[in-house]
Amino acid sequence: MSNGKKADSQTVYFRSADFPSGGFLFKNRVRIAPNDRGFMFADGLYEVVRSYGGRFFGFAEHLARLRHSLAEVGIDFPEIGELPGIAQELVRRNGLETTAAVAYIQLTRGLCERRYPFPTPPVVPTLYIEVNRLLSAAVEAEQGIAAITVPDIRWSRCDIKWLGLLPNVLARQRAVAQGANEAIFVRDGVVTEGTHTNVFGVKAGVVLTHPSDHHILAGITRAQVIQLCRALRLPVEERPILQAELAGLDELFLTSTTGEITPVVVLDSKPVGRGRPGPLTQQLQRAFRDLISSLSQGD
Ligand SMILES: Cc1ncc(COP(=O)(O)O)c(C=O)c1O
Repeated sequence: MSNGKKADSQTVYFRSADFPSGGFLFKNRVRIAPNDRGFMFADGLYEVVRSYGGRFFGFAEHLARLRHSLAEVGIDFPEIGELPGIAQELVRRNGLETTAAVAYIQLTRGLCERRYPFPTPPVVPTLYIEVNRLLSAAVEAEQGIAAITVPDIRWSRCDIKWLGLLPNVLARQRAVAQGANEAIFVRDGVVTEGTHTNVFGVKAGVVLTHPSDHHILAGITRAQVIQLCRALRLPVEERPILQAELAGLDELFLTSTTGEITPVVVLDSKPVGRGRPGPLTQQLQRAFRDLISSLSQGD
């Protein structure tokens, strides 16, 4: 993910207690204070929304998820409705209208003395948004990727899109160090999700994925894929996939805003199914592409 732009020419949006009016500025002009609770405690949230040819996909769903995250951690951000307009303006200001791009939106509880309890009265949440060109993941989508399984050492509120990503970072690094692309978390013998993806398995024509609960992030792409399964009359079950079932799966794929639907063809150095993207995965990829092209044609 890269804008191909340097920080002195990339326009971003920033608002904080030090800059309460907020505004568009070059990235190298942003000043995050050391006492920002995002910096001190990872006390903040984020969202990643994708745009196709200048149009954002599923912004309402991303905002609904952000509202959930905000409510769960007690950050008051009544200006949430301004986010799509700001992101759209960043697409324009950075010349990203005709390409795939992603908006990264980060919100922290704000700037105050370093104390665990929330500041009283509440302070202005810090808001940072940047939009970057998205590099094509066409090769991964077509050929599939390798993944590894790792113990899920994260907390029990993975439904909150929280800034604290160290377990995800360590797991992904482990995958990369082993020549794989993604790490899939396993908690108490159950496959939960990837470091930045939701996980789907296919067994005997049935599409399986972990239920949406506190152990996974309710992926926007995940929900979209479940809807596509229903539209295509593919049986889909939201039930835990056991680690013990992995070796017997016919197909395995990942979903995310940036990667859409990515087949996993090698897991823990062993082929998944026939070791190439499976037919149901490919059917869902085609249906997803159709959905996106209908969106960019303005349907
Ligand atoms: C832990 C985790 N699970 C799943 C996803 C996929 O969610 P979405 O489809 O909304 O991008 C993400 C996205 O970043 C993630 O971080």
